[in-house]
Amino acid sequence: MMHIEAIRSARELLDQSIITYQGEPIGTAAACDPSPVAANYEECFVRDFVPSAIVFLLQGRSAIVRNFLLTVLRLRSQLQVMAGHQRAQGLMPASFRVVNDGESEQIVADFGDRAIGRVAPVDSAMWWMFLLRAYRNVTGDQAFVERDDVQEAIRLTLDLYLKESFESAPTMLVPDASFMIDRRMGVYGHPLEIQSLYYAMLTIAGELLQPGERSDRLLAMAASRLQSLRSFVRLYYWLDRNRLNDIHRYQAEEFGTEAVNVLNVYPETIPQWLLDGWLPADAGYLVGNVGPGRIDFRFFALGNHLAILFGLATHEESAAIMNLYTRHWETLVGEMPLKLCYPALAGAEWRLLTGSDPKNAPWSYHNGGNWPVLLWTFVAAAMRAGRDELAIRAWDAAARRLPGDGWPEYYDGVTGSLIGRRSNFHQVWSATAFLIAHHLLEEPESRRLFNQIIF
Ligand code: GLC
Repeated sequence: MMHIEAIRSARELLDQSIITYQGEPIGTAAACDPSPVAANYEECFVRDFVPSAIVFLLQGRSAIVRNFLLTVLRLRSQLQVMAGHQRAQGLMPASFRVVNDGESEQIVADFGDRAIGRVAPVDSAMWWMFLLRAYRNVTGDQAFVERDDVQEAIRLTLDLYLKESFESAPTMLVPDASFMIDRRMGVYGHPLEIQSLYYAMLTIAGELLQPGERSDRLLAMAASRLQSLRSFVRLYYWLDRNRLNDIHRYQAEEFGTEAVNVLNVYPETIPQWLLDGWLPADAGYLVGNVGPGRIDFRFFALGNHLAILFGLATHEESAAIMNLYTRHWETLVGEMPLKLCYPALAGAEWRLLTGSDPKNAPWSYHNGGNWPVLLWTFVAAAMRAGRDELAIRAWDAAARRLPGDGWPEYYDGVTGSLIGRRSNFHQVWSATAFLIAHHLLEEPESRRLFNQIIF
C-alpha cells in the first residue's frame, strides 16, 4: 500500500472511532474491530486516547480534546467505594463508554472495578494532566486550565499521588498491572513507566496549578519530590557497562548509612543475557523496576521513551538508549516496531510472575510482543536525540505491513513477525501512532506544534 493510501486508511479509522455524547465528540474507541477479543475494547481508554488527542491537536481539532478532559474530570463522581475503604477522588478512570437506552444517554466509567483482574489505572490521571497541558499549550486556552473544577481536579490528583505511604524512595509505589501493562507481569513496585509519567505530572503541576493556600502546600511537596525523583532514577535505574560492572562486583549485606549497595541487590540476580554481553559499551538504558533487594533488568520501551521525551533521562543517556536500539534493532524494533519489553519471561519465571497467563505467553502481547503504538514515542524520542535516521527506519518498517495487515494491536515472536495471536484488528492507537510519526517526519509545522505538546 502506498503511504498516501496508508495515511488515508489511518485517518478513516480514527474518524470512525469517535465516540459522541449528546451530539458532541468526547473520545475515541480503543478498537473498531467488529469482533473484538474483549467487550471493553469499544470503550474510550484514557491512555489510548493520548495519541488520538495528539493527532487531533496537530490537525487543529482541539474541541474533542477539551470535551474529553471535562468528561473524564466529571466521571470522578462515579467512583465506587471499595469494600473496606473509600476511593480517593484523585483517581481517574481507565475507560468509559456511552450507554444509550433508546431514550437517554449516559456515560459509564470503569475505575478498574469492571476491568479484568480489577486493576487500578494509576497512569490515567497522569496522562490526563499531560493532555491538559498539551491542550493549553497548543490552543493557548489558559482560561480552561484556571477553571475551578480543573484546578480542583489537579489538587485532588496531587493529594492522592503525593500521599505518604510506605515507600522509602521518592519513586511511586504501585500494584502490578496499573498502567499500559494491565495484566500481572511482575511489574508491581516501582515500574519505570509510572516513574516517567510521575515525573511529567509533577513538572506539569508546577506549571498549571495556580497559587493559593491548599495549592501552595502541594506545589512545595511536588517540587521537592520532583528533584529527588530525578536524582533517584538517574542514580538507581540507569544501567550501562560501568554500572553493570559495579553491580557485578557488589558486596551484599552491608549495614548502616555508609553502605554502597544501598538496596542490597545480590550480583547473582544479574540475568545471564546481560552477563553474556548484551549491553554494548556505548549503550545504556533505564531498568524496569528498582526496589529493596531487587533490580528488574528487563528493558521496557515505553518508560525509556517517555524518560527521553520528558527530560528525565539526560542527553547522554538518551544518546546511549538510541545506541542500544541501533545495536539490537532485530529484537528491539524487528519486523514491526516496537518490542514492549525485552526479554520475555519463560518457564518458571513466566508461571510465577504472570500467574501462568496464556495471553502473556513468551514473546506475545505484553510479555515480549511488538506494539505499533510505540512508534510515536520512539519516533519522537529518536528525533529528540538527533537520530532521525532511526525514526525513519522504524517508520518504514511499520509502513511496510501495518496498514495492509489491518492495524493490528500487537505482533508476536522474537522479531515481531506474526500478527498477535489474540490481537484485535483496527486498533486505533496503532493507526494514531502511525499518523503522529508521519506528521513528525514529514511536516515541519507539526514538529513545531509537537514540541509544545512534549516538554
Ligand atoms: C489492553 C492494553 C492496555 C490498553 C487496552 C485498550 O488492555 O494492555 O494498555 O489500554 O488494551 O487498548
